[in-house]
Amino acid sequence: MNSFKRMTSMFTVLAVLSAATSCGSNVGGGSADNNAPVSTESTTAAQEAAAPAVTEAAADPAASTDTATFVSGTVTETTAVTTVASTETTSSVTPEFTLDSYDITVSVGGTKTPILSVQGLQEVWTTSNENVAVVDEYGHITGKSEGNCVVTISLKDKPEQKAEVKVTVVAADDGLTYIQGMLIANKTYSLPADYNPGGLTPETQAAFNNLVQGAANDGINIYLSSGFRSYEYQSQIYNNYCSIYGQSTADTFSARPGHSEHQTGMAIDVNIIDDSFIGTPEALWIEAHCNEYGFILRYPQGKQEITGYKYEPWHIRYVGIENAQKIREKANEVGDPYLTLEEYLKIDSVYQN
Ligand code: DAL
Ligand code: ZN
Repeated sequence: MNSFKRMTSMFTVLAVLSAATSCGSNVGGGSADNNAPVSTESTTAAQEAAAPAVTEAAADPAASTDTATFVSGTVTETTAVTTVASTETTSSVTPEFTLDSYDITVSVGGTKTPILSVQGLQEVWTTSNENVAVVDEYGHITGKSEGNCVVTISLKDKPEQKAEVKVTVVAADDGLTYIQGMLIANKTYSLPADYNPGGLTPETQAAFNNLVQGAANDGINIYLSSGFRSYEYQSQIYNNYCSIYGQSTADTFSARPGHSEHQTGMAIDVNIIDDSFIGTPEALWIEAHCNEYGFILRYPQGKQEITGYKYEPWHIRYVGIENAQKIREKANEVGDPYLTLEEYLKIDSVYQN
């Protein structure tokens, strides 16, 4: 006889503490995202300014709908149930295996693996929601974004032999926000001041090398102008713009420290970082092809109210080829070639102060 346990859907709301900034005076220098009202060369600045503030982040909307029946005794013939009605079912199938756990909690980016009582089985692992957690052929369950889902194991040649594992994905305690596996940095979601990957991530660098080569094959010269920027460096840049243009204008084209994608090591400004880049063959090539290399154009034209920033044809963000293709497909589906990451993930980008 098997015992059954029903999972109730859980909705997790994550409160993220973020660092907000007020503009400060400037000394020293940095060059980046120079989409200032006057399209001139970059200016210089150096001055940290950071005061605490609070923002709130919502859980992945795609992650909040799973309900399912859980099997703690290994064999089940039932699948999903809704919310209240019990659908406990008795199975006459003799279990051929058990797991050491049917209810696991894993952090975003972390991995856990239920241990099988029998080795050498030909098992198949699946997830009910790959935006919440993915599972590989060995049963390694990796959290992708906060929420709940069900991972099912069944035997390849005996599908009636199956078990379900309730998976709860919680925020990592590193202050980072991943949604659908993508690290988010925008006006709503911040990065800790000490988050410093030390440069572009290796995946980003490799993808960019491919992009540069692909562009060269088309006769287009793409080069990196600004890549990784630390929290401190972004402070210098932002505060410099604040001193020149005032904070409200600076906020339209320069991220406050802790809010810049450049701090993730996954954003790159290519070629000319000012409005003179708009409409150039290089800008048009980037717009048309960057997704083929795992990048998205992060601040498209006409989307300032959504991304929080003016059009930046030079700023690309690495999301991986799979995500880039999914975003492109969604853009095609909704008929909006400039679909933003915020629209795709259904998140906002607004400072809370
Ligand atoms: N220019 C972009 C928004 C940044 O400063 O990260
Ligand atoms: Zn940029």
